[in-house]
Amino acid sequence: MSQADDHEGTRRDFLYYATGGAAAVTAGAAVWPLVNQMNPSADVRALSSIRVDIGDIEVGTQLTVKWLGKPVFIRRRTAEEIEAARAVKLDELIDQSAENANKPEADAEDKNRVMDENGEWLVMLGVCTHLGCVPIGDGAGEYGGWFCPCHGSHYDTSGRIRKGPAPENLHIPTAEFVDDATIKLG
Ligand code: FES
Repeated sequence: MSQADDHEGTRRDFLYYATGGAAAVTAGAAVWPLVNQMNPSADVRALSSIRVDIGDIEVGTQLTVKWLGKPVFIRRRTAEEIEAARAVKLDELIDQSAENANKPEADAEDKNRVMDENGEWLVMLGVCTHLGCVPIGDGAGEYGGWFCPCHGSHYDTSGRIRKGPAPENLHIPTAEFVDDATIKLG
C-alpha cells in the first residue's frame, strides 16, 4: 500500500468515526491524533500546486480532493444556495473576515468567498476551524451548508460559521481558474 493509500484509509476511518461520535466532546479529543496524521508528508508537500478537473461536477454537488494532505471541497452551488448566502448581512456573521487566501483583506460577504462573479463555484478547505474535523456537506446543518458533527458547528452555504464552537469561516485556499473546466489549487 502506498503512502497516499494510507492517508485515504485514515480519512475514511476518521469520517466514519466522526459521524458515529456526533456531538460528544471527548470525540474531538479522540479523533485529533487521526486528524493530525493528515498533515502532509514530504512527498505530498512537494505537490504544492495541483490542477483539478471540474468539468463533470453537476450543479448542487461537491467534489472533495486531497491537497497538501487536507480535504478541499469544490462545490458547484445551486441558485438557491447562492441566493441564501447573498441574503445574509455582514453583521449577522460570527466571523466577518472572508478567510480567503486570494483576498486577504476582504470581508465575509459571499461575493468575496467565491471563485466567479455569479457565485456558482465555492472552494474551501474541508477542515473545521474548531479542532479540525471534516464537516459533512450537501446541505447539512441548520444553515443548509456544512455541519461538523464533532462538536456541532453549523456553516452556511458560503461556508461561514453560523452556530457552534468553531471560531472562523471555513478557509479558502489559494485557487484560480486555469480554464472553464480546470481549477488550480496553490
Ligand atoms: S472540530 Fe469541533 S465542531 Fe468541528
